[in-house]
Order: sequence, then C-alpha cells, then structure tokens
Amino acid sequence: MCGIVGYTGRREAAPLVLEGIKRLEYRGYDSAGLAVLGAGGLVVEKTAGRIAALEARIKGRVPRGHTALAHTRWATHGVPNEVNAHPHTDCGGNLALVHNGIIENAAALRAALAKRGHKFRSETDTEVLVHLIESAYTDGVPLEGAVAWALKKVEGTYGIAVISAREPEKVVAARLGSPLLVGLGEGENFIASDASAVVEHTRSVVYLDDGELAVLTPRDYYVTDLDSARVDKAVSTVDWDLGTVERGGYAHFMLKEIMEQPESLRNALRGRLQEDEGNARLGGLNLTDERLLSINRVVLTACGTSWHSALIGEYMLEELARIPTEVEYASEFRYRNPIVDEHTLVVGISQSGETADTLWALREAKRRGAHTIGIVNVVGSTIAREVDGGIYIHAGPEIGVASTKAFTCQVASLALLTLHLGRLRSLSVLQGREVVKALRKIPDQVDQVLARAHEVQKLALVFDGATNALYLGRGYNFPIALEGALKLKEISYIHAEGYPAAEMKHGPIALIDESMPVVCVAPRDAVYQKIVSNVQEVKARGGKVIAVVTEGDDQLAGLADHVFTIPETIDSLTPVLSVIPLQLLAYHIAVNRGKDVDQPRNLAKSVTVE
Ligand code: AGP
Repeated sequence: MCGIVGYTGRREAAPLVLEGIKRLEYRGYDSAGLAVLGAGGLVVEKTAGRIAALEARIKGRVPRGHTALAHTRWATHGVPNEVNAHPHTDCGGNLALVHNGIIENAAALRAALAKRGHKFRSETDTEVLVHLIESAYTDGVPLEGAVAWALKKVEGTYGIAVISAREPEKVVAARLGSPLLVGLGEGENFIASDASAVVEHTRSVVYLDDGELAVLTPRDYYVTDLDSARVDKAVSTVDWDLGTVERGGYAHFMLKEIMEQPESLRNALRGRLQEDEGNARLGGLNLTDERLLSINRVVLTACGTSWHSALIGEYMLEELARIPTEVEYASEFRYRNPIVDEHTLVVGISQSGETADTLWALREAKRRGAHTIGIVNVVGSTIAREVDGGIYIHAGPEIGVASTKAFTCQVASLALLTLHLGRLRSLSVLQGREVVKALRKIPDQVDQVLARAHEVQKLALVFDGATNALYLGRGYNFPIALEGALKLKEISYIHAEGYPAAEMKHGPIALIDESMPVVCVAPRDAVYQKIVSNVQEVKARGGKVIAVVTEGDDQLAGLADHVFTIPETIDSLTPVLSVIPLQLLAYHIAVNRGKDVDQPRNLAKSVTVE
C-alpha cells in the first residue's frame, strides 16, 4: 500500500505535498518522490528509502510551482529503488503519475506500448499506466479524457493522480480498489490517500468510489465516471484534528495508541449501551429485527489482528447469542467456494476498511446473497461504503502498523453485536444486563492495567536473547495467545507462536526448554483450572513462564516465574484486559532491540493488494 498526495492552488506546492506524504508514511516507506509543475515545466525528484532521504535530496533546491504530486511507496512490483520510485513520467516528460495498487495486465500493455516505440525505465506496473495515458493524450484531448481512456484498458486496482505540463493547474485522480479522497480548500484543492494528509488544511473531503475520476483545479473540482458522466458526491467533514494524528509526546504512535485505549473504548461504547434492556443500540446495521431473526448463521471474515478479534466474536456469538458462527481468513473465504445464502450474515472486520482480501471476501459474500456488515475503524473507507450496514468502532486514527486500540475496540463492538443478536434470541434481559454492566466498567479497568505498564517494561527483559517464544491461552484467551504472538513477531522480529494451551502437548511441548519464554494467558475464567495443568507441564520441562492472571490469583501466581495481574470481568471480556500487557510486552521488547516500532520492516498499515 502506498501514500499519495496531490495539490493545485495558490501556494507553493512542494512543501505541502511533502508534509502530506509524511502523514501517510505509515502506509509504505521504502521509497518516495515528488513531481512539481513550475515555470520551467515538470520537475521530478525521487529516492529509495524514507521521505527524509527525499528531503535531503532537494534541500536548498526545492522545486517551485503551484501544482504537485508526492508519493511514499510500499513496493509490489520492482525492488524499492530510485528508478522504481514514483512519480513515473512518460516519454515526452510532460506527464507525471503516482499510483497505489496493482495493474494485473501490465505486461501485455507494456509489450504493446513498446511496439509503438515507448521506452520504459523501471520494472514497475505503474510506469505502463503513464505511457498508456500518453498514447491517448494527443492534441485536443484533455488530460482527464486520456486518463479515462487508459483506465478502461486496465485490469487490477489503482488509486492514481496525474499532472501534465500542458495543463499546469490541473490534477486528475481516479480510483478502483485503492482509497482516494478530494480535500476542498479555499482557492486550492488536494487529492490524498486518506484524510490525515490534508486535515491541517481542510476538514471538507469527498471520498471517491471505485470507477470514479476527479478533476481538480485551484478553484474547482468535479467527479465523473470513466465515461465522463458527472457524479454528484457528498462532502464529508473530518471529525478529528491533526493533534489526534500526531504522537502527542509519546515515543511512538504504537505506545500512544496502547495508552489511548480507555478513551477509544469509551468512544466505541458511547451511546450504545442500554442498561435496562440489557441490549446494545446499533444504528448502522440497516437490518430490521425480522431480517436479523431470519439469519441462521454468521461468518466473520478478516485478516491478521482483525481475524483474532473475529475468533473472540465467534465464541461470544455462539455462547451468548446461540447463533452458529464461523471464522474465515478472508483470503481463503473468497476462493474456496463457500456456502453462503440470504440467511447468512457475513461480517467483515477491518481497521483500515481497505484490506483487499477482506473487501473481496465481502464482495463475494454479497454476490451470493448474504447480508454483509462491516466492523470498521476508518470512516468512509471502501468496506464501510460497500457493505449493507455496519458498526464503526470509533477507535480514532490508528497510525502504528501494529494494531492495538483498534483490536480492543473491535472486541467491544463484537460484544455489542452479540448483545443485539442475542437479545433477539435466547439471551435474557438479566444476562444482557450483566454484559452491559461489565462493558461499562471495561474502560476504567483498562486504565487500571495501564497504570502498571512499568511492570511490563521489566518483564520485557525476560526476552533478552530469546529467539523464539510460545504464547498459550484457552477459550476466550486462545485468540489472545495468537494476538500476543503476532504483536511480538511483527515489531521485534522474534519468532513466536500462539497455541491453544491444551494443544501444546501435541507437539510444541518439544520446543520447551529454559531458553524459550512461555507466555500463558490465564485469567480466572471457565477454563482456568485446565490451563494451570498446562503451565505445570511447561514448568516440568524447565520452561520460563510469564502468566497473565486475575487479581487475587493464588495458584498460578505461585507457579509461574513472572506474573502480571488484570482486574476481574466476565469471561467474554477478559480478552480486552489480557491483551494489554501483551501489547506492552511486544512494544518494550521491540524498543529494547532497537526496532522501528511504528514502521516495522516489510509491513504496511493496510494491505490493499491481494
Ligand atoms: C496488525 O497488527 C497487523 N498490522 C495486520 O495483521 C492487520 O491486522 C491486517 O493487515 C488487517 O488489517 P485491517 O484490520 O486494516 O483489515
């Protein structure tokens, strides 16, 4: 996934687009570039490496002009070097284009263009696009006409922005599968991958939908389809400010977002808990009670951390709402010919709302007649706009690549969905009230856990020198074992596995020795006694055990080598508390190892390619 910013207006463009892509660097950061239209025509500068390398490259000689594009890349085709960095230009040096996505028929298009004399410099699919546009951009054809013509020949996904020396005040943008929005200013307009790149200049944004093309000039903008038919679009208002996006004094976005969880959970629950009815008010499902009662199966589909929250949702929905539920990796669901019909509710869980695997799984479910809902963080994201209804988790912008506050808000939102479905079925008002009461307490309980974050910083030292780790959990906390292991892997690069605790004796126990830290997530819940036995098995083989237990625990606390306690809550909500020390553990281990916590190698915040 990449970050795109474009500008046309009354101000010097280069500083604005550079600042904009810095806000998007979490989307991809292996190379960067910009193109500026000025008195001397088109100037393009690009480098391998981070945006800082690009800034160093142009220090003291920033290109001047009032129209510009900038791009920060996460490579999909071609190694992350200067030649493959965006923007890409045409043979004539009049056009510059930036792209997020994959052109699947790039090879065939490149061969046809080469036959017509086009010369290519890079290995990228993107460069094919700018030459394709050039081949149609003849005298009398406006830039938007050439772009629309070219995009009709493309198979794959794109979010693009294009500028031309022949029309120096214009920026043309288009999207299919990769997010883009128009930022509306005073005498200036922006194009960007998401609102964080423009929110310091304007809160008025227009989200583009697939198949749409936008034409921007300093004083105007309009949107069409690829046949040039005008499309009326609503103007949305971004409801958070730049300070929200900034690190707020924390060393890393990830730590800020871990510490924000009491507030993000309050936002996720705000206005949705109905104490008396023991229910949840979910206004955006677009599902009548009758339609909900016709649902006989739920499929939760997601990727990565969001898939872990789906596992918790499965346990909740089956235990409390008594509705058959299964969890599917989105990438698997789409291609395995699943059984889905109008009585299936397919729930896509996605922080970014742009993950291609999840988006396509939902499209496949919709095609087969299922009712689809999204549990999404980013307002206006593609998934949020394509599903039949949904629940915004209101976690606020999550910048750190490793998801934390979005995960706990996903779990809280799944609890709300469970209440809503359960109270239509067999969940009694008293049972519902118990869940509501526990949810109401959760943000303060998370505060209590975070107040002891320093204890986890000490625990992280246990991992000094470790090259592997095992995370164990049962029941509602088996997914937390998976999530804790993923957090550790993705930011410290230590290999870690999450396992259902009972499964350990069927193989992984062979790994146990004094060099292998074993994290056991064992709050006092229905399966607590079972996991005590599993911990004894680990200790008997010399394993070093770190246990997450409930305050007042008098069994495991005496058995484990290190203990972190969490407050008591109902079984289904223990994951919201037990995950916190594991987030902090991964964070401190990664910091101790000098890793780039917010932008781990090879990763991107949202994977908008398959
Ligand atoms: C989470 O820490 C990872 N960065 C990754 O697994 C992520 O959860 C996954 O890519 C899904 O992203 P989404 O929630 O935006 O769809």
